[in-house]
Amino acid sequence: MTDSSKGDPPHHLGPEAIRRRAEALGPWFHNLDLGGVRTAPDHFLGDYPAVKWRRFAHAVPRDLSGKSVLDIGCNGGFYALEMKRRGAARVVGIDSDPGYLAQARFAAEVTGLDVEFRALSVYDVGVLQERFDLVLFMGVLYHLRHPLLALDLIHEHVAGDMLIFQSMQRGSRRVGAVVENYEFWETAQFDRPDYPKLHFVEHRYAHDPTNWWVPNRACTEAMLRSAGFEITAHPEEEVYICGCNAARPADGAVYPARGKHA
Ligand SMILES: C[S@@+](CC[C@H](N)C(=O)[O-])C[C@H]1O[C@@H](n2cnc3c(N)ncnc32)[C@H](O)[C@@H]1O
Repeated sequence: MTDSSKGDPPHHLGPEAIRRRAEALGPWFHNLDLGGVRTAPDHFLGDYPAVKWRRFAHAVPRDLSGKSVLDIGCNGGFYALEMKRRGAARVVGIDSDPGYLAQARFAAEVTGLDVEFRALSVYDVGVLQERFDLVLFMGVLYHLRHPLLALDLIHEHVAGDMLIFQSMQRGSRRVGAVVENYEFWETAQFDRPDYPKLHFVEHRYAHDPTNWWVPNRACTEAMLRSAGFEITAHPEEEVYICGCNAARPADGAVYPARGKHA
């Protein structure tokens, strides 16, 4: 009997069969090692996301036995599979892109890891009807037209104890002090590079039409706080570990009506 949490490869797929199926499922964003076959060996960020994971893996509980994990925007499944390797009892990966989900399902099949992958947008996490001990929300925020709504929905519906968050960030890396209130005629703060700023990309950034909003570091931190997440660690430039039970200063998620009834 194989221990699925250890990721023993199933015997029926040889390297050539893996290579052929991985190629058919490509292009890949995640450079996974599937039985010795690399899925994105020429990734522009190097061995991604393994290079990033190595920089903050120490800040994630090593033993996730008995824990439930939700990976939002799971892509090819790298982080979901890593959480299963850490012994999580239940791991669910969601993504809005069926092509990436097919990759993630194949990766789970090859590695023999038991992870559930579902086609679901972050805006629809309410249908999961479940809170997860650990939620990963990595590399998705800046791809959204409504980033703060996504954080509000995560907080309202699925966040349990811990959120692991990552965003691309641009602009100043300094975080200035923000006071409770600024009077109407005070405007200097808006020109400070260390004031929270969310840069809107009307057209493209890095040739990617799905890059919509890029925060500076102060903005990332302010948005997390505003959605009810308490930053407990910042183990890597773009990565934040958060508690999920902070008092929320804002109202939270909104649900615009579509039909006649609000
Ligand atoms: C840059 S990749 C990040 C993948 C992975 N989380 C990581 O950190 O390596 C962004 C992922 O978010 C997914 N995504 C974009 N919009 C989404 C949405 N509204 N709901 C869920 N996933 C979304 C994309 O399909 C893609 O897989």
